[in-house]
Amino acid sequence: MSPTIRPRRLRQSAPMRRLVAETRIHPAQLVLPMFVAEGLSEPRPITSMPGQVQHTLDSAAREVERAIAAGVGGIMLFGVPTHKDAVGSGATDPEGILNRATAFLAERFGDATVVQTDLCLDEFTDHGHCGVLAADGSVDNDATLIRYADMAVAQAEAGSRLLGLSGMMDGQVEHVRAALDDAGHQQTAILAYSAKYATALYGPFREAVDSSLTGDRKTYQQDPGNRREGLREALLDIAEGADIVMVKPASLYLDVLADVAAASDVPVWAYQVSGEYAMIEAAAERGWIDRDRLVTESITSIIRAGADTVLTYWAIEQAEWIGARS
Ligand code: PBG
Repeated sequence: MSPTIRPRRLRQSAPMRRLVAETRIHPAQLVLPMFVAEGLSEPRPITSMPGQVQHTLDSAAREVERAIAAGVGGIMLFGVPTHKDAVGSGATDPEGILNRATAFLAERFGDATVVQTDLCLDEFTDHGHCGVLAADGSVDNDATLIRYADMAVAQAEAGSRLLGLSGMMDGQVEHVRAALDDAGHQQTAILAYSAKYATALYGPFREAVDSSLTGDRKTYQQDPGNRREGLREALLDIAEGADIVMVKPASLYLDVLADVAAASDVPVWAYQVSGEYAMIEAAAERGWIDRDRLVTESITSIIRAGADTVLTYWAIEQAEWIGARS
């Protein structure tokens, strides 16, 4: 019995496999998330994310230079303020760390890359929630929208080209779009973190931004078991005017990503989050897995599932490998 149909023919050599590869990673599909902290004299390592740091303005600039040289598509900025309060004042202050870092990097590199900013209050609030609180302690959706609108205008004015709305408040895309347009920022684009799950995978990020959160985000982020709801959130954001939608985390939510990719008529991105990074780095540190192979495999799988672009802390390294290997 000799088979006539032999799928192995196309796997017989590296050049043949390269020729028929269905999924390729291009550096422009990778976006680097970066943390910029206030009041640091030198970069501070983030223990639970080996290789990642809280940047000073100067070290951030050097990192952006590396990202551009590697061909990375853009950078996503997060701010780590020294002062936090109930309404997250630092988020709307033009002198707040995120807005200052944005202005500094946009001014230097705005023609060479796409400077993007996280639009959410959690790094700036003393309670650590993504919005402002009502008298009963719950996160007040509509009062938060007013803060997001002000934050959006401040970020656009600082020079951010793409605002990453990650707070999961109802109506945030529509509200922010209207505020940007009213302020004359029609060209500032919106990346909606549409399907964002209440996951344990954000753990290391909490260290990265010195988060003061106690409790959880389950009244606004989604239940990990809900697949249909992920699609609903993405379609709502598209209807509200999102220029790009995102699924987050990535690796454990590839089914949601595939659903959104099949239904979306705007670009679909995915965020390989801090916990996804930490798990691979930790296992590799113990010598239990082949780190470099798994990094590439994980990013390939996210693209295979339907992501046009991936936010990943390995963006520079992965982009450099592509340059070296191809
Ligand atoms: C909200 C925000 C979070 C992340 C990105 N934007 C934290 C959260 O929602 O709890 C997590 C990113 C990561 O874990 O890498 N500002």
